Amino acid sequence: MEVVILPTPAHCGRVVADILARVVEGRAGQPLTVGLATGGSPLLAYRELIRRHREEGLSFAGVRAVLLDEYVGLPVGHPQTYREVIRRELTDHIDIDDPDVHGPDGAAPDPLQAAVAYEHLVRDTGPVAVQVLGIGANGHIGFNEPGSSLRSRTRVKTLTEQTRSDNARFFDGPDDVPRHVVTQGLGTIGRAGHLVLTAFGSSKADAVAAAVEGPLTASCPASVLQLHRHATVVVDEEAAAALERADYYRYTLLHKLANQPH
Ligand code: GLP
Repeated sequence: MEVVILPTPAHCGRVVADILARVVEGRAGQPLTVGLATGGSPLLAYRELIRRHREEGLSFAGVRAVLLDEYVGLPVGHPQTYREVIRRELTDHIDIDDPDVHGPDGAAPDPLQAAVAYEHLVRDTGPVAVQVLGIGANGHIGFNEPGSSLRSRTRVKTLTEQTRSDNARFFDGPDDVPRHVVTQGLGTIGRAGHLVLTAFGSSKADAVAAAVEGPLTASCPASVLQLHRHATVVVDEEAAAALERADYYRYTLLHKLANQPH
C-alpha cells in the first residue's frame, strides 16, 4: 500500500485525477471500466477531471463507469440517489455516455435481487481498472459497515445510525435518510486492479489510521486495502494526523524512482 500525504485537499484531488486520467489516456482504444464513488471526498478530483476535459481535451469517450452503492427506496431521479449525484458532479460534464454509467437499482421492487444483478453487472462490465473510494468515519467503504465480511459480494446492507446521521446533511432531515442500501461487497471492490482511497480532515484521521496501520479486521472494513496488491491512500495532513508511520510515507514519496507511478 502506498500512502500519499499532501498539504491540502486540492493537492489530493489533483493526484486522484492524475491516476484516473492516466488509465483513461492509456486505454488505446481498449474497453475501460472505472469505479466511481460518491460522497464529498472525490469531488475535487472530479472537478479537476472536468477541467482537464474542458481545457485540455481529456476524453472519456467509450469509458464505462460503475458506482459503488445506492440507497434503497429512493425513487429513480431523486436528487440524492447516487446515480443522480454522479451525473451532477461528474458524468454530465464529460463525454461519457450516460447509459455507460451503472449503479445498483435501489428503486427495484426486490432489492435483494437487484444486488445480485449488480454483482453480475460489475463482473461483466469490468474488470474495473481503478476504483475510487472514500471512507466513512467508522471505516466503511462503499456502504460496507463495520462487521462486513472481507469477502462480501454486492448485497443489501443496513446503515448504522452514525452513517445515517453523517449523511443527513444531504437530506431534508435525518429521518429521510434511507435505512437500507445496495453496496458492492468488499470482495467485489477488491477485484478492481487499483484501489484509490482519498480522505480529508480530522474527522477521518482515526478511520484512516485504522485502515492503513490497524489490524486487518471486518471491524474496520477499509483495512481490506491491506490485502490488495495495488492500493493507494491519498490524504491531507489532517486526515493523516493519526498515522504512526507518516514520516516514512512522506520520505517514500520524496524518494520515488523516476516514473514510479502511484
Ligand atoms: C458514504 C458513501 C461512501 C463514502 C462515505 C464518506 O457513506 N457510501 O462511499 O466514502 O460516505 O463520504 P464523504 O466522502 O462525504 O465523507
